[in-house]
Amino acid sequence: MQMEWDFTRHALLAGAMDDAHQVSIRLIRRLALAADADEPLCLEQLLLHCEEHFMQEKAWMDDSAMPLSERHLRDHAAIHAMLINARDELRAGKAGAGRKLGTELFALFDRHFATYDAALALCMLQKRHAAGPGIPAVG
Ligand SMILES: [Fe+2]
Ligand SMILES: [Fe+2]
Repeated sequence: MQMEWDFTRHALLAGAMDDAHQVSIRLIRRLALAADADEPLCLEQLLLHCEEHFMQEKAWMDDSAMPLSERHLRDHAAIHAMLINARDELRAGKAGAGRKLGTELFALFDRHFATYDAALALCMLQKRHAAGPGIPAVG
């Protein structure tokens, strides 16, 4: 499987969200290909990135009054739990737990971008569109 950012498949034309998703894919690929000695650091970097990104998306959901955001948040929580679980396994000496998760996460993120994140990007776009360009003050 090619773990690369694919504009036609992954881009949501959502600026900062797309930027963060490119970082997600880079970190996932790095974890999936990590040597035993590098697995803990690669996993930690992906975990921190996901925690930050998921918090940012929560703020965007709140700001755009996104419907059904609980499902999106549940998916984030499930991914977070997988990362914590793999970190525990690595700490217990189970080499390869990070690489295995990295491979699984690529498919999972691919689906997450195309569903929950795509819906969020649309809500954000709709909110910006509803706000309009604004009318300049006169006088
Ligand atoms: Fe995302
Ligand atoms: Fe998301």
